[in-house]
Amino acid sequence: MKNLLITGGAGFIGTNFIHHVFKIRPNWRVINLDKLTYAGNPCNFENLSPEESERYRFIRGDIRDTVILDRIFNTYNPDAVVHFAAESHVDRSIQGPIAFIENNIQGTFNLLDVSRRIWKHNGNPPDFRFLHISTDEVYGSLGSEGYFTEKSPYDPSSPYSASKAASDHLAKAYFRTYGLPTLITNCSNNYGPYQYPEKLIPLMILNIIDEKPLPIYGDGKNVRDWLYVIDHCDALVRVLEKGDPGETYNIGGGAERQNIEIVELICDLLDSRLRHTGKKSSRRLIRFVTDRPGHDRRYAIDATKIKNELGWSSKYHFEQALETTMDWYLSHMDWVNSILSGDYRKWIKENYAQRAGIKMNDPAEEKKKGNNP
Ligand code: NAD
Ligand code: TYD
Repeated sequence: MKNLLITGGAGFIGTNFIHHVFKIRPNWRVINLDKLTYAGNPCNFENLSPEESERYRFIRGDIRDTVILDRIFNTYNPDAVVHFAAESHVDRSIQGPIAFIENNIQGTFNLLDVSRRIWKHNGNPPDFRFLHISTDEVYGSLGSEGYFTEKSPYDPSSPYSASKAASDHLAKAYFRTYGLPTLITNCSNNYGPYQYPEKLIPLMILNIIDEKPLPIYGDGKNVRDWLYVIDHCDALVRVLEKGDPGETYNIGGGAERQNIEIVELICDLLDSRLRHTGKKSSRRLIRFVTDRPGHDRRYAIDATKIKNELGWSSKYHFEQALETTMDWYLSHMDWVNSILSGDYRKWIKENYAQRAGIKMNDPAEEKKKGNNP
């Protein structure tokens, strides 16, 4: 039996990771510590089987709270920490950077420091692992050529990526200074079930369903290297089991696409699913809006190291997994509706109201004013 302390396990990737682990590692138990920000949803685990429920504990708490961390370590004595908890959205980091400094930097520091203290108290068990989940955004922006390798210099552009860069440095320093067996993964953009619809792919899916404008920042030619979330989870299990402490592993799917290509593809695939016969293509909803400040032009991962050293490579094909993702949202509108809170509507209004070229009204407020949204 392996005990994993997962932080941020009620968010997008953490949720998928826990479900994945339950499927492929019947001997692993999970303690999910999540403070449940707007992005965390404990209902993602409502349908666990009785056997899975036996292996699952949820604790609502903040990684900045050392009392809770101490209690969890003393009660469950985890064999590994898998650290997802973070504020994760670039646009939110531009509007309110402080939460990123506090949660991503201070939070990671607390978690590392409690882990180190207890690891030392337990006699430095060599099999303990601290897996720090990070992003390719720490490397900054690529031009039209080249790839990020584990040796690429850090060059973050947004408060989000700068906060993740700082937390990566702390994880590395805790290995070099204290010998704590930390591992770092830097992954490209994920997509799949349970992603909060502030990120590109789920936002576009939901806006098309609601026939709302599809806001494309700048010229729409920024490139991201997309990876299906289950591929990411599989890579993380591999790193946890086989990775060398102190090492960094880049994870990516080699599916580079321009934002505009993705949005047009989602329009076409959804149009054929929703059978909007007689209606014009959803592409008519596309609006080019004011660019994101400091918008990185291109991300692309060189995943040679994880392939050669740990035998991992992505399995899911981009277009097929995108269809699976769309079908998941279409068949989980109850999940979608449950998270479309006042916070969500407020965010959409704030973020897009400032961008010239688009008007995103809050349907609830419009109704109040007597308008038909
Ligand atoms: P998410 O925003 O969907 O989920 C984050 C979770 O962390 C939420 O459940 C939230 O409640 C929780 N959380 C935030 N602050 C916390 C705190 N102080 N204490 C406890 N819980 C807290 O994020 P995600 O997309 O699932 O990303 C998870 C991790 O993976 C992040 O560290 C992110 O930087 C990294 N990552 C994400 C992507 C991506 O494409 N989404 C790609 C590479 C790396
Ligand atoms: P996002 O999903 O926020 O991920 P990240 O910024 O971490 O890469 O955005 C992906 C790309 O899509 C990015 O280039 C910004 C762009 N984008 C839009 O054009 N419109 C939008 O409404 C959003 C949310 C993102």
